[in-house]
Amino acid sequence: MKNIAVIGSGTMGNGIAHTFAQFGYQVNLIDINADALKKALSTIEKNLDRQVTKGTLTEQDKTQTLNNITTYTDLKEGVSKVDLVVEAATENIDLKLKIFRDLDAFTQPSTILASNTSSISITQIASVTNRGDKVIGMHFMNPVPIMKLVEVIRGYATSNETTQTVMQLSEKLDKVPVEVNDYPGFIANRILMPMINEAIYSLYEGVAGVYEIDTVMKLGMAHPMGPLQLADFIGLDVCLAILNVLHQGFGNPKYAPCPLLVNMVTAGKKGVKSGEGFYDYSNGIKEAKVSAKFS
Ligand SMILES: NC(=O)c1ccc[n+]([C@@H]2O[C@H](COP(=O)([O-])OP(=O)(O)OC[C@H]3O[C@@H](n4cnc5c(N)ncnc54)[C@H](O)[C@@H]3O)[C@@H](O)[C@H]2O)c1
Repeated sequence: MKNIAVIGSGTMGNGIAHTFAQFGYQVNLIDINADALKKALSTIEKNLDRQVTKGTLTEQDKTQTLNNITTYTDLKEGVSKVDLVVEAATENIDLKLKIFRDLDAFTQPSTILASNTSSISITQIASVTNRGDKVIGMHFMNPVPIMKLVEVIRGYATSNETTQTVMQLSEKLDKVPVEVNDYPGFIANRILMPMINEAIYSLYEGVAGVYEIDTVMKLGMAHPMGPLQLADFIGLDVCLAILNVLHQGFGNPKYAPCPLLVNMVTAGKKGVKSGEGFYDYSNGIKEAKVSAKFS
């Protein structure tokens, strides 16, 4: 395996392209938005500079990594000759189904089609292709060049051969792949999101404030950041969407999103990306005023 296409050059796509390119793969980075591609290349360069400053990469490795990446705005052109596609486009089911229908038509029959989706069923994505055995989840974590885990998700029809290929490939990227089956939230979000939801419920019910909840989890459980701050980093809209997938997928009320989370997302408080969530990011990081009461 030598040639990889990455679809979507946002937060995850640029990290995935960076990682493959750093390990010597030829990467076609594809986005419908030319500005997003430009921004992705500059982000990758900045992140490579940081690695050079830290001494984990040489200046020559940096240049080689950048040379390994070619950008495309045309999907067909970018995927026609690759061995593997990793799709990291916007988390929207209709969009992903359309992309995978196109990928089935535009790639060689032997190409493995992976999705980096956080919550959409791999089995459903595979169902719109004629190669369910070659469709798989490759769930990288943010920031991709740093985080070790790849959650490898087997859909109902994914073959052993495809799974083995993707597990071995992940190891070649110096990652630790873990194989899980395709059920709502896989493992990472099935466990993480109820914890975040419970933290929001604790705030909503007035058990403790933002600082207290995050401090208990940081200092008491040795988490690098508290669940409320983590939710802000992930995006409160993303957390809400994943909780809805868990709630609908299992039909179990224990996954129902906290009404405070629903209200915050509806009011546009989405965390870091909107400038405010449980914390205010407009001038450093300060605790925002959040409680069940509006005043
Ligand atoms: N952000 C995270 O922490 C995280 C972690 C793990 C997995 N994921 C998953 O990774 C995927 C991408 O998330 P993100 O946070 O990078 O999103 P993002 O919004 O930062 O980037 C998405 C990119 O996809 C592009 N895009 C949209 N439609 C496209 C199309 N038809 N063809 C090509 N490009 C297209 C957009 O222009 C954008 O640049 C999602 O499935 C998400 O669930 C995200």
